Amino acid sequence: MVLLNTSDDNIRKAAEWIKNGNLVIFPTETVYGLGCNATDDKVVSRLYKAKLRPAHNPLIIHVAKPEHGFALADFDQRAKNIASRFWPGPLTLVLAQKKQNGISGTATAGLDTIALRCPAHPVAHKLLLYAGVPVAAPSANKSGRLSPTRPVHTEKDFENDVACILAGGSCSIGLESTVLDLSCEVPSILRHGAVTESDLSEYIDLDKSDRQATEKPKAPGQLSRHYAPLTPIRINAVDLEPGEALLAFGSEKFIGIRGGGSARDLPEDSKRNLSESKDLNEAAVNLFAMLHDLDSPERHKSIAVMPVPDIGIGKAINDRLVRAARRE
Ligand code: TXA
Ligand code: MG
Repeated sequence: MVLLNTSDDNIRKAAEWIKNGNLVIFPTETVYGLGCNATDDKVVSRLYKAKLRPAHNPLIIHVAKPEHGFALADFDQRAKNIASRFWPGPLTLVLAQKKQNGISGTATAGLDTIALRCPAHPVAHKLLLYAGVPVAAPSANKSGRLSPTRPVHTEKDFENDVACILAGGSCSIGLESTVLDLSCEVPSILRHGAVTESDLSEYIDLDKSDRQATEKPKAPGQLSRHYAPLTPIRINAVDLEPGEALLAFGSEKFIGIRGGGSARDLPEDSKRNLSESKDLNEAAVNLFAMLHDLDSPERHKSIAVMPVPDIGIGKAINDRLVRAARRE
């Protein structure tokens, strides 16, 4: 595995690797992806194995341009409108697959739907363009673990699996794309992200009955404990237990430690602040990176996270935190 900067030559090299059946880690505006040629069943199977991903959980297929997506799935007028407004960008669309579209059945977990995304990150865009094939790419973390927003978060997990990491700095959004299901009559959000309910509501009538909460969630990856650090997480914390690390949102001035002391007494490497000014976009960018920083079961018995408002992108932040805090 080599760590490459994002020069044009290196992006071409990585694109060749993808075309020839290798795995490559690359930046997108949301999180880093672990990518491979989505038409090559063999490498897709290798990707599932490397990521320890259950076979029933399908991958997102990435394309350089919306037109490339149109060749893979049935876009009705509604889907075309959404794509023309939000692509390229942090939105994934679930649609009925076109038959014989060349995509590996392993990548779509044998479903007759497909999840498509056209990322806005210039490095991802070039990589997809140069590769000239659709690219299957889950987040570049082991299944169920914290998502990567910096190259360093991916380095250890896939050392022996990937040809290279394209190191393109920090991701500008920091949370995975919004997943919108357009495969049925009433569209619904399967995963919250930077494209919010209210952004989408301007264009479509959404099913607001949070389907993730029902018995049969439609995004298979949304089922269980996810985005989890090794250290336990305690959400909506208004104070600290001794031995806990603090992930603050807004002022930490009034956060006390039970039994005596205050958050201000914590050592520097035991506290982070998602956003002192309570800016939710800043908090989204920081979320995974700060959880990575604080994740140390030897140092912290748990990570206490202060409440984050459940509005706008705050919904996506809370969704990740709730799943990370689950015990199973
Ligand atoms: O921001 C992102 O979307 C990143 C970057 C790399 O693009 N990718 C990402 O992929 O988050 P992954 O594999 O970690 O998450 C994909 C989600 C999973 O929850 C999966 O179940 C869902 O998309 N998904 C994929 N195909 C689907 C389908 N046909 N129907 C419903 N959900 C689907
Ligand atoms: Mg993921």
